[in-house]
Formats: sequence, C-alpha cells, structure tokens
Amino acid sequence: MTEEFDASYWEHRYRTHPASRQPLPGPQLTAETDALAPGRALDAGCGEGADAVWLASRGWRVTAVDVSPTALERAREHAASALDEAQAHRIDWVEADLTSWAPPERRFDLVTTAYVHAGSAPAELYARLAAAVAPGGSLLVVGHHPADEHTAPLSAEHVHFTAGEIAAVLDTAWEVVTAEERTRRSDSHGGATLHDAVLRARRLP
Ligand SMILES: C[S@@+](CC[C@H](N)C(=O)[O-])C[C@H]1O[C@@H](n2cnc3c(N)ncnc32)[C@H](O)[C@@H]1O
Repeated sequence: MTEEFDASYWEHRYRTHPASRQPLPGPQLTAETDALAPGRALDAGCGEGADAVWLASRGWRVTAVDVSPTALERAREHAASALDEAQAHRIDWVEADLTSWAPPERRFDLVTTAYVHAGSAPAELYARLAAAVAPGGSLLVVGHHPADEHTAPLSAEHVHFTAGEIAAVLDTAWEVVTAEERTRRSDSHGGATLHDAVLRARRLP
C-alpha cells in the first residue's frame, strides 16, 4: 500500500474512525519521561491528546500540535473529561502542519513526538523539532521500527526508521540517553506486538 500522509489523509482517517474510548498515553513516553521534572513540553502530532493530557496531569505546560481539526477537537474533549480545570488550562492546542510549522527555537524542556510519519523525511522533521529543545531539555522520538510487521505494508518512505538514524541528525551538543528498538502490545491492533524505535536525547546545558 502506498500512502501519502498529508493533512487530508489524517483528517479523513479521524473522520472515518471512531474516537478512542479511553485514550492512553504511549508506554514509551511514560517510561522515558516519568523521572523528568515538569516544565514546558511540545507534543508534535498529538492526535487525540492522550500524551498531552498525561503530561499536563503531571505538571507539564504543554503545546500540543496536530494537523487534523477532528483529532484536536477530540483531544480537547478528552482533556476536559480527564483533567481538572487548572490542568486542562496547561495545554495549548495548536492546529498546524509540522512539515512547514517551525516551533520556537530552544523553547521547550521536552519535545516529544510519536508515530507521526508526517509526509516529510524523518531526519528533516526531527532536526527541526530538536532545534526547539532548550539547553538541558529532552527530545523524545518514537516511531515504527523497520522490523514492525504491523506497519510493514505501509510503503511510504517516511514511515519507518531506527533510533540510530534519528540520533545521526543530532550534533555534539546532545547526549543520547536511549536509542533502542522496543516492543509494545497494542489493544487497538488486536493485541498485536508492535516494534518501536525509541530515541531520547538531552541537549547539553
Ligand atoms: C498515528 S497518529 C499518532 C498520534 C499520537 N502521537 C499518538 O502517539 O497516539 C499520527 C498523528 O500525527 C498527526 N500528523 C501527521 N502529519 C502531521 C503534520 N504534517 N503536521 C501535524 N500533525 C501531523 C496526525 O494528524 C495524527 O494525529
């Protein structure tokens, strides 16, 4: 299957699929950021908002960006039902296309992005997101590893990558903390085991 993962693809996908009943944060996000002190976070490609909501519940001030208005509407609803008012106010929902939207440089203590395959070359996108990390802050990139059987039929060139390929876009101002292939069980894929690429790096202060 060849896919063009542009804005209309994602909006159509959300409109033709029911909202998640109980969006849960990604296991790679929770494992990798659990010990970080909350600050300003950017969730790039936030989807229905599970990660942004989890971060806000833990004290992060979150800018959550997605290209799909339907995803953002669902994310706002999820935040309103899962968070108290003060926590919900910690999230700014932004409709923008990550292939052209440039986040402010060196602004965020955490930039996180998961399974975005945004229609542009991963290295280019993740270099731009890395530029938004403040000194001492963290970058977390989670994506589909080339070994992932579930997403293997997606032949678009930007879907799969290894953590090492993303680490290669970072210069000596970064310390790589995690660069791994990991598995997770996905209930939304019938309990299948999915293979993720996980990169966490810290910009040196
Ligand atoms: C597979 S979903 C993952 C959502 C969420 N990060 C998660 O882990 O559940 C990919 C998300 O990235 C968003 N996305 C894809 N391309 C994008 C782009 N160019 N700009 C902004 N968001 C984009 C989609 O709308 C979708 O919500």
